[in-house]
Amino acid sequence: MYSEFSAWLLLVAVGFAVLVAWNIIDVYVKKKKDINLHEGEEDWPLPDLGRTLIVYYSLGGKTRRLAQEIASITGGKLYEILPEREIKKAPFVYFSSRKYLNGGGYPLIVADLPDPNYYDTIFVGSPIWWGKAAWPLAAYLEKTDFQGKKVIPFCTVRSDYGSFFDDFEKKAKNAKMLEGEYFYNHSRKYDYVVRNKIRLWLNILEE
Ligand SMILES: Cc1cc2nc3c(=O)[nH]c(=O)nc-3n(C[C@H](O)[C@H](O)[C@H](O)COP(=O)(O)O)c2cc1C
Repeated sequence: MYSEFSAWLLLVAVGFAVLVAWNIIDVYVKKKKDINLHEGEEDWPLPDLGRTLIVYYSLGGKTRRLAQEIASITGGKLYEILPEREIKKAPFVYFSSRKYLNGGGYPLIVADLPDPNYYDTIFVGSPIWWGKAAWPLAAYLEKTDFQGKKVIPFCTVRSDYGSFFDDFEKKAKNAKMLEGEYFYNHSRKYDYVVRNKIRLWLNILEE
C-alpha cells in the first residue's frame, strides 16, 4: 500500500517536472525566434500619430520599460495606472489576481485618469495575467470612454497573450482600434530588439 502510494507520488512529480521543462524550452524557443526576427537594424520610418498618450499598468517593471520606449519613440506622454492599494508581487499576485479573471468588481484604481479628448492616439498596455489583461488595466477600460480616438493595445508576456486583444476590443468603449502588438519580457540586453520591434509595428500600422 505504502509503496504503491510512493510510486504514484513519483509519477506525479516526474510528470510535473516534464511539464515545467517543456514550458521553459517552449518560452526559450519563442524568445529566440523573436530576437532573430527583430535584431536586424532597420530604421523604420514612423507614421504621424499626432498627440500621443501611453497608458499602462506594470507590476514588475517590464511593461513600464516598454511604455517608456514607446514614449521615447513617439514623443508621447506617459500615464501609469495605479491601484489604490498596493498589489503584492509574486507569489501572492498569482493567487490574489485569480478572482478577477472573469471581470467586474475590481478594487479601486487612482481616479485622476487622463482625458482621451486631449489626444489623437492612445496606446494602452498591460502585463498578461492568466491569459488576460492585468485587472488594473481592465478596471481602467471599465472607467474610460475613448470618444472615437485611435487606440492601440500592447502587452508584455512570458509566453502567450491569451485572449488579451479580443477582450480589449470588446471592452474599449468608442475606440477606433488599430493593430496591437505583444512583447516578450526579454532582459535589458535585448532592448535594441524591442526598439526595432516597436518601430516595425508602428511602421505598418494601418487605419
Ligand atoms: C499573476 C500572473 C499571471 C501571469 N500569467 C501569464 C500568462 O498567462 N501568460 C504569460 O505569457 N505570462 C504571464 N505572466 C507573466 C507576465 O505577463 C510577464 O512577466 C510580464 O512581462 C510582467 O510585466 P510587468 O513586469 O510589467 O508586471 C503572469 C504573471 C503574473 C504575475
